Amino acid sequence: MSLPDSTQSSLPQQFWSRIVYIVAIVTFILLWMFTWSWQDGPILPTHERETQSSDRYAAKLDPLVNLPKNKQLCTSDTYNNGQWVKQPIKLEKNNAASIEKAVKYHCAWNFPHKCYRRPNEEGEFARARHILDYQWKPKKCELVPFDANAFSAYIADHPLLFVGDSINQLEYESMACLLGEKLYNPPGDTNITGGHNMWASQLVHESKLQVQGAVSLAYLRSDYLVRLDDFKLLDPNDDEGFVIGRGSNYPWKHALSRFHHIVLNTGPHWHTDKKWGPNESDEEMMVAYKKAMKIVVDYLIDNMTPLQRIWIRSTPYGHLKCSQYTEPSKVPHVPQRKPGEFQWDMHVKFDEVWKDLIEETGDDRIKFFNVSSMANLRGDAHSRPDSDCLHTCLPGPVDDWNKLLFSEIAREIARIP
Ligand SMILES: *[C@@H]1O[C@H](CO)[C@@H](O)[C@H](O)[C@H]1NC(C)=O
Ligand SMILES: *[C@@H]1O[C@H](CO)[C@@H](O)[C@H](O)[C@H]1NC(C)=O
Ligand SMILES: *[C@@H]1O[C@H](CO)[C@@H](O)[C@H](O)[C@H]1NC(C)=O
Repeated sequence: MSLPDSTQSSLPQQFWSRIVYIVAIVTFILLWMFTWSWQDGPILPTHERETQSSDRYAAKLDPLVNLPKNKQLCTSDTYNNGQWVKQPIKLEKNNAASIEKAVKYHCAWNFPHKCYRRPNEEGEFARARHILDYQWKPKKCELVPFDANAFSAYIADHPLLFVGDSINQLEYESMACLLGEKLYNPPGDTNITGGHNMWASQLVHESKLQVQGAVSLAYLRSDYLVRLDDFKLLDPNDDEGFVIGRGSNYPWKHALSRFHHIVLNTGPHWHTDKKWGPNESDEEMMVAYKKAMKIVVDYLIDNMTPLQRIWIRSTPYGHLKCSQYTEPSKVPHVPQRKPGEFQWDMHVKFDEVWKDLIEETGDDRIKFFNVSSMANLRGDAHSRPDSDCLHTCLPGPVDDWNKLLFSEIAREIARIP
């Protein structure tokens, strides 16, 4: 058997294959240049895009809105000093579409805490509507007026991420509804999960639909922010480890560099447990909580860009047997560690840990974001009396958290030279 003689026939073949090769390269370059001029910019691989955006954050900040002049603007603390005032909502019709119009919600999809969309449940529409009959009035200050279009355009260039448990998911959903007129599902894979097999919520502003991988608003679920076994901040594909009860503890730190503003919270899923010590005591749990949150803060400080901002949301409590509340309270009903309260009395202790940590760092890129006093008065606004007396209906008081967040971000940006 003889091998085919390659040298004889290969000369013309090599020649033609080289021509094909050169033509292919030239075509590719032309196509690339065409894409370049057609897009806002070149489509870059994700990691290069990330560097680009964090450089941009460091370089300049766009104003969000002009702050009102001659007004006493709220801080998150002064905002919480006030009361719920009855101011009945006006609806065109007694239906879901009229609620959405009245509160300027743009979110056609359904999710668990949309109480006004429970057509088969007697009384739920009226209850959901009644929740909206009260307005939060701070005593001595006002917010920068909420401007959904300005905010959604702002987060197109300065994206906003929520990380935490289902209460932060609720805040994300409220924001997605308030800004939803200009937000869409990203058309392709954004790699927001870092390759981890998990669900994530994400939307992109209409102006960025052509930009591959762009995300404007996202939520990543992490019930504890760290892995409970070793207090590690998870990388994609790490195991979530031990969790207390049901929930999810997904990685999030890989996504930080893609967002300008990050709202963090963890609390309601922390419970006394043998994991923290043999006595299953509050003290043991608080030692663990402090240690874990210190690790989070240290990581943030070492990894934030100069203009990134972290908002640590406070942790309001729930209300035992919340069906007893049919209007906002004048005075708070503080949890007493009764059965059925899920240790809600610890939430203010979690807040104290964060306030101390923030003060210790002296780093003003990390802010405590207080929503507690106003939220704690809304025993009437919970999602499922009496089975879920922690989450609240949307629309509802969580929309006010987001209007406060808008105001805080607008003030913060105006402050930066
Ligand atoms: C929130 O603000 C209120 C009113 O200023 C204040 O009394 C309360 O202590 C603050 N809560 C937290 C958790 O900081
Ligand atoms: C997805 O994100 C992860 C974590 O940030 C990164 O390591 C990986 O390279 C990204 N994959 C793509 C295809 O961009
Ligand atoms: C557990 O409780 C016992 C008895 O009250 C006490 O002596 C011990 O120090 C506690 N252990 C921890 C880790 O707190």
